[in-house]
Amino acid sequence: MIEKWNEYFLYKNGELFCENVSLKEIAEEVGTPFYVYSKKAILDKINEYKKAFSEIDTLICYAAKANPNLSILKIIKEEGLGADIVSGGELFKARKAGISAKKIVYAGVGKTDFELDYAIREEILAFNVESKEELIVLNEIAEKRKKKARIAIRVNPDVDPKTHPYISTGLKKSKFGIDKDEAIDAYKFAKSLKNIEIVGIHCHIGSQIMDVSPYKEAIEKVLQLVEKLKKEGIELSHIDIGGGLGIRYKPEDNPPKPKQLSDLIVPLIKNTGLKLILEPGRSLIGEAGALVSKVLFTKNKKEKHFIIVDTGMNDLMRPSIYNAYHHILAIKPKDKKIVADIVGPICETGDFLALDREIDDLKRRDLLAIMSAGAYGASMSSNYNVRPRACEVLVYGDKFKVIKEREDYHYLIKPEEKALEGEV
Ligand code: LLP
Repeated sequence: MIEKWNEYFLYKNGELFCENVSLKEIAEEVGTPFYVYSKKAILDKINEYKKAFSEIDTLICYAAKANPNLSILKIIKEEGLGADIVSGGELFKARKAGISAKKIVYAGVGKTDFELDYAIREEILAFNVESKEELIVLNEIAEKRKKKARIAIRVNPDVDPKTHPYISTGLKKSKFGIDKDEAIDAYKFAKSLKNIEIVGIHCHIGSQIMDVSPYKEAIEKVLQLVEKLKKEGIELSHIDIGGGLGIRYKPEDNPPKPKQLSDLIVPLIKNTGLKLILEPGRSLIGEAGALVSKVLFTKNKKEKHFIIVDTGMNDLMRPSIYNAYHHILAIKPKDKKIVADIVGPICETGDFLALDREIDDLKRRDLLAIMSAGAYGASMSSNYNVRPRACEVLVYGDKFKVIKEREDYHYLIKPEEKALEGEV
């Protein structure tokens, strides 16, 4: 039996705890399923990043898409970080949490007029622009508002981050960014626009990156562009290298640490005079979180043993859509181990959390924790099959707090209810 998953999720007297709080006790109080996050894990990671990059002027913009819970964003704000956003909704939440607009960068291939206008009014640090057409629209809206929109062009460096194809974003064939061969043109065009102010350059090569070498390749390519731009009289003040550092999903995984990334890339950036922006999401919050669930039933078929739990692809989509591995721990481990599929209640064959997994011989009402679920867990959840979203809990030391209430049936029908009175 393992004694701990990491420093934050560990067994005490044969039971899994988050920091100093028993997960069983939280389950008794808030019910299952629930997401639980260790505040200490988040703080430690933030400090690890800050320390690793202390040698150069760096702004860490947390990728809100990983987990945009307001209380998480509040921690981000209190630690002085900024945010990387991809929608008006994320901007709203980041501002609500008190994150300064001066520390917000905004990426995404499909920003609406409303969203562009909103971010212009907020005077964010930079739009990470993904097409020439976006530049035109941004300029028009900024003109109407009598403001200047600060921009960085998202350059597609055509580097393979060696990760899952769905989360590789820096390849030529991907929809993201502007090809590096066309970037100079895009910058010249941006320079010609009156209400655009060029401030930086951006790239993001992918997510769950387990080998840092592609970063070096990407940054070298981007810095070549920075040199070319200088010759064209276009001076930048920052380089934003996106997010992407991987985390530990399997016990044997050994993801790179922020220090490994800084050792590799700080020397490249140090003498350029550019400020560095980082956009980590998963690596800040992923390992800080788990999804706790309860066994509803077990079912022995000829071919397989099934453990049916009260959470599934509605709460954690990653196994279903990326075939992602999440380690699963029994809250109270059993001596007997079995091989089983751990599946959810959703009416889809693809609704599984683990397939053919060696696991404790869990029975009805036993609790289990699906690990490394802090990033892209709650944020990608849905109400499929009309299931209320799970509640979210933040643990710090020996205390815990509900940071998102469990949705209920009334909440779910609210946006549809009024129409029942109408005629059609
Ligand atoms: N910056 C940009 C422009 C991004 O597109 C992303 C993630 C990040 C930063 C943060 O990347 P991170 O540090 O979290 O790797 N749903 C997928 C991950 C999608 C990532 C999308 N972009 C998953 O569950 O694996």
